Amino acid sequence: MTMHKQEHPLGGTAEHGPGPTAASALDTGTLRQAFGHFPSGVTAVCGMVDGSPLGMAVSSFTSVSLEPPMVAVCLQLSSRTWPRLRELPRLGLSVLGADQEPLCRALAGPEEDRFTGCSWETGEDGAVFLHGAVTWYSCILRDEVPAGDHSIALLEVDRLWTQPAAEPLVFHGSRFRRLENQELTIVTATSYSA
Ligand SMILES: Cc1cc2nc3c(=O)[nH]c(=O)nc-3n(C[C@H](O)[C@H](O)[C@H](O)COP(=O)(O)O)c2cc1C
Repeated sequence: MTMHKQEHPLGGTAEHGPGPTAASALDTGTLRQAFGHFPSGVTAVCGMVDGSPLGMAVSSFTSVSLEPPMVAVCLQLSSRTWPRLRELPRLGLSVLGADQEPLCRALAGPEEDRFTGCSWETGEDGAVFLHGAVTWYSCILRDEVPAGDHSIALLEVDRLWTQPAAEPLVFHGSRFRRLENQELTIVTATSYSA
Protein backbone atom coordinates (compact mmCIF):
# COMPACT_ATOMS: atom_id res chain seq x y z
CA MET A 1 0.00 0.00 0.00
CA THR A 2 1.44 3.39 -0.95
CA MET A 3 1.11 6.12 1.69
CA HIS A 4 0.79 9.63 0.32
CA LYS A 5 0.53 11.42 3.66
CA GLN A 6 2.70 11.56 6.75
CA GLU A 7 2.94 8.00 8.05
CA HIS A 8 1.66 6.96 11.47
CA PRO A 9 3.89 4.56 13.48
CA LEU A 10 1.18 1.84 13.20
CA GLY A 11 0.48 2.51 9.53
CA GLY A 12 -2.06 5.06 8.36
CA THR A 13 -1.48 8.75 8.89
CA ALA A 14 -0.96 11.11 11.81
CA GLU A 15 -4.18 12.79 10.77
CA HIS A 16 -6.36 9.67 10.57
CA GLY A 17 -4.68 7.32 13.05
CA PRO A 18 -3.68 3.69 12.54
CA GLY A 19 -4.42 2.32 9.08
CA PRO A 20 -5.23 -1.12 7.70
CA THR A 21 -1.64 -2.25 8.15
CA ALA A 22 -2.33 -2.23 11.92
CA ALA A 23 -5.22 -4.68 11.38
CA SER A 24 -6.48 -6.50 14.49
CA ALA A 25 -6.70 -10.25 14.88
CA LEU A 26 -10.06 -11.72 13.90
CA ASP A 27 -11.15 -12.72 17.40
CA THR A 28 -14.86 -12.65 18.21
CA GLY A 29 -14.63 -9.59 20.45
CA THR A 30 -12.84 -7.52 17.82
CA LEU A 31 -15.28 -8.68 15.14
CA ARG A 32 -18.26 -7.68 17.31
CA GLN A 33 -16.66 -4.28 17.87
CA ALA A 34 -16.01 -3.81 14.15
CA PHE A 35 -19.48 -4.97 13.08
CA GLY A 36 -21.04 -2.76 15.77
CA HIS A 37 -19.34 0.28 14.30
CA PHE A 38 -21.77 0.12 11.40
CA PRO A 39 -24.96 1.82 12.62
CA SER A 40 -28.28 0.20 11.84
CA GLY A 41 -31.93 0.40 12.75
CA VAL A 42 -33.74 -2.45 14.45
CA THR A 43 -36.66 -4.41 13.07
CA ALA A 44 -39.13 -6.74 14.73
CA VAL A 45 -39.78 -9.85 12.64
CA CYS A 46 -43.16 -11.18 13.72
CA GLY A 47 -46.02 -13.50 12.83
CA MET A 48 -48.89 -15.40 14.40
CA VAL A 49 -48.08 -18.91 15.63
CA ASP A 50 -50.86 -21.02 17.17
CA GLY A 51 -53.01 -17.96 17.82
CA SER A 52 -50.30 -15.90 19.55
CA PRO A 53 -47.78 -13.36 18.22
CA LEU A 54 -44.19 -14.59 17.96
CA GLY A 55 -41.28 -12.35 17.06
CA MET A 56 -37.70 -11.32 17.59
CA ALA A 57 -35.55 -8.18 17.38
CA VAL A 58 -33.35 -8.15 14.27
CA SER A 59 -30.83 -5.42 13.44
CA SER A 60 -29.28 -7.18 10.44
CA PHE A 61 -32.00 -5.91 8.11
CA THR A 62 -30.91 -4.53 4.76
CA SER A 63 -32.67 -3.43 1.60
CA VAL A 64 -31.74 -5.67 -1.34
CA SER A 65 -33.78 -5.08 -4.50
CA LEU A 66 -36.26 -2.59 -5.90
CA GLU A 67 -37.54 -4.82 -8.73
CA PRO A 68 -38.83 -7.08 -7.32
CA PRO A 69 -38.92 -5.43 -3.87
CA MET A 70 -36.72 -7.52 -1.56
CA VAL A 71 -35.11 -7.15 1.83
CA ALA A 72 -32.83 -9.47 3.81
CA VAL A 73 -32.19 -10.32 7.44
CA CYS A 74 -29.51 -12.53 9.02
CA LEU A 75 -30.59 -15.03 11.66
CA GLN A 76 -28.41 -16.82 14.19
CA LEU A 77 -28.45 -20.59 13.69
CA SER A 78 -28.96 -20.87 17.46
CA SER A 79 -32.26 -18.96 17.31
CA ARG A 80 -35.22 -20.87 18.72
CA THR A 81 -37.66 -18.34 17.29
CA TRP A 82 -36.61 -18.22 13.64
CA PRO A 83 -37.30 -21.94 12.88
CA ARG A 84 -40.96 -21.27 13.76
CA LEU A 85 -41.17 -17.92 11.96
CA ARG A 86 -39.67 -19.31 8.75
CA GLU A 87 -42.55 -21.78 8.41
CA LEU A 88 -45.17 -19.01 8.23
CA PRO A 89 -46.77 -17.98 4.93
CA ARG A 90 -46.00 -14.33 5.62
CA LEU A 91 -43.97 -12.25 8.06
CA GLY A 92 -44.45 -8.71 9.31
CA LEU A 93 -41.30 -6.59 9.62
CA SER A 94 -41.68 -3.48 11.76
CA VAL A 95 -38.85 -0.93 11.73
CA LEU A 96 -38.78 0.25 15.34
CA GLY A 97 -39.27 3.89 16.24
CA ALA A 98 -36.95 6.01 18.39
CA ASP A 99 -39.10 5.45 21.51
CA GLN A 100 -39.23 1.68 21.18
CA GLU A 101 -35.99 0.74 22.95
CA PRO A 102 -37.84 -1.08 25.79
CA LEU A 103 -39.86 -3.02 23.24
CA CYS A 104 -36.69 -3.91 21.36
CA ARG A 105 -35.12 -5.31 24.54
CA ALA A 106 -38.29 -7.25 25.26
CA LEU A 107 -38.21 -8.74 21.76
CA ALA A 108 -34.77 -10.17 22.49
CA GLY A 109 -35.75 -11.40 25.96
CA PRO A 110 -37.88 -14.23 27.38
CA GLU A 111 -40.44 -15.34 24.83
CA GLU A 112 -43.44 -15.03 27.13
CA ASP A 113 -42.72 -11.32 27.78
CA ARG A 114 -41.98 -10.15 24.24
CA PHE A 115 -45.38 -8.62 23.51
CA THR A 116 -46.32 -7.54 27.04
CA GLY A 117 -47.71 -4.00 26.92
CA CYS A 118 -47.09 -3.81 23.18
CA SER A 119 -49.84 -2.77 20.82
CA TRP A 120 -49.92 -4.73 17.55
CA GLU A 121 -52.20 -5.87 14.78
CA THR A 122 -52.30 -8.66 12.24
CA GLY A 123 -52.31 -8.31 8.48
CA GLU A 124 -52.77 -10.79 5.67
CA ASP A 125 -51.81 -14.43 6.46
CA GLY A 126 -51.10 -13.60 10.10
CA ALA A 127 -48.22 -11.15 9.60
CA VAL A 128 -47.84 -9.16 12.84
CA PHE A 129 -47.12 -5.41 12.78
CA LEU A 130 -46.16 -3.39 15.86
CA HIS A 131 -47.82 -0.04 16.49
CA GLY A 132 -45.36 2.84 16.97
CA ALA A 133 -42.98 1.51 14.31
CA VAL A 134 -41.85 3.82 11.51
CA THR A 135 -42.21 1.39 8.58
CA TRP A 136 -44.00 -1.93 8.13
CA TYR A 137 -43.17 -4.52 5.47
CA SER A 138 -45.43 -7.44 4.67
CA CYS A 139 -43.08 -10.17 3.41
CA ILE A 140 -42.90 -13.67 1.99
CA LEU A 141 -39.74 -15.71 2.59
CA ARG A 142 -38.31 -16.52 -0.86
CA ASP A 143 -34.91 -18.02 -0.07
CA GLU A 144 -32.54 -18.76 2.77
CA VAL A 145 -28.78 -18.99 2.31
CA PRO A 146 -26.48 -20.58 4.92
CA ALA A 147 -23.75 -18.14 5.97
CA GLY A 148 -21.42 -19.29 8.75
CA ASP A 149 -23.20 -19.21 12.10
CA HIS A 150 -26.14 -17.33 10.54
CA SER A 151 -28.47 -17.78 7.63
CA ILE A 152 -29.46 -15.00 5.26
CA ALA A 153 -33.20 -14.83 4.68
CA LEU A 154 -34.36 -13.15 1.47
CA LEU A 155 -37.85 -11.74 1.80
CA GLU A 156 -40.05 -10.42 -0.96
CA VAL A 157 -42.09 -7.38 0.06
CA ASP A 158 -45.56 -7.13 -1.37
CA ARG A 159 -47.03 -4.39 0.81
CA LEU A 160 -45.54 -1.65 2.92
CA TRP A 161 -46.56 1.34 4.96
CA THR A 162 -44.02 4.00 5.83
CA GLN A 163 -43.92 7.23 7.78
CA PRO A 164 -40.84 9.01 6.38
CA ALA A 165 -40.96 11.80 8.94
CA ALA A 166 -40.94 9.44 11.95
CA GLU A 167 -37.64 8.92 13.79
CA PRO A 168 -36.20 5.38 13.85
CA LEU A 169 -34.40 3.69 16.74
CA VAL A 170 -30.65 3.45 16.01
CA PHE A 171 -28.37 0.61 17.16
CA HIS A 172 -24.65 1.36 17.18
CA GLY A 173 -21.70 0.07 19.23
CA SER A 174 -24.00 -2.15 21.36
CA ARG A 175 -26.02 0.94 22.33
CA PHE A 176 -29.38 2.30 21.37
CA ARG A 177 -29.24 5.84 20.03
CA ARG A 178 -31.35 8.50 18.39
CA LEU A 179 -30.51 10.31 15.18
CA GLU A 180 -29.13 13.77 15.72
CA ASN A 181 -30.95 15.93 13.25
CA GLN A 182 -27.94 17.30 11.50
CA GLU A 183 -28.48 16.84 7.82
CA LEU A 184 -25.51 16.83 5.48
CA THR A 185 -26.34 16.28 1.82
CA ILE A 186 -29.25 14.52 0.17
CA VAL A 187 -28.46 11.43 -1.90
CA THR A 188 -30.70 11.57 -4.94
CA ALA A 189 -32.29 8.59 -6.64
CA THR A 190 -29.96 9.07 -9.61
CA SER A 191 -26.81 8.63 -7.53
CA TYR A 192 -28.08 5.60 -5.61
CA SER A 193 -31.34 3.81 -6.04
CA ALA A 194 -31.71 1.35 -3.13
C1 LIG B 1 -30.61 -4.77 19.07
C2 LIG B 1 -30.68 -6.24 18.79
C3 LIG B 1 -30.46 -6.71 17.51
C4 LIG B 1 -30.53 -8.07 17.21
N1 LIG B 1 -30.31 -8.49 15.93
C5 LIG B 1 -30.38 -9.80 15.63
C6 LIG B 1 -30.18 -10.24 14.29
O1 LIG B 1 -29.95 -9.46 13.37
N2 LIG B 1 -30.27 -11.57 14.04
C7 LIG B 1 -30.53 -12.49 15.04
O2 LIG B 1 -30.59 -13.69 14.76
N3 LIG B 1 -30.71 -12.09 16.32
C8 LIG B 1 -30.66 -10.77 16.62
N4 LIG B 1 -30.87 -10.35 17.90
C9 LIG B 1 -31.12 -11.34 18.92
C10 LIG B 1 -32.55 -11.83 18.92
O3 LIG B 1 -33.50 -10.80 19.01
C11 LIG B 1 -32.68 -12.77 20.12
O4 LIG B 1 -31.57 -13.56 20.25
C12 LIG B 1 -33.75 -13.72 19.95
O5 LIG B 1 -34.97 -13.18 19.68
C13 LIG B 1 -33.89 -14.55 21.24
O6 LIG B 1 -33.46 -15.78 20.98
P1 LIG B 1 -34.36 -16.85 20.21
O7 LIG B 1 -34.33 -16.49 18.77
O8 LIG B 1 -33.65 -18.14 20.50
O9 LIG B 1 -35.76 -16.80 20.76
C14 LIG B 1 -30.82 -9.00 18.22
C15 LIG B 1 -31.04 -8.54 19.53
C16 LIG B 1 -31.00 -7.17 19.81
C17 LIG B 1 -31.25 -6.69 21.21
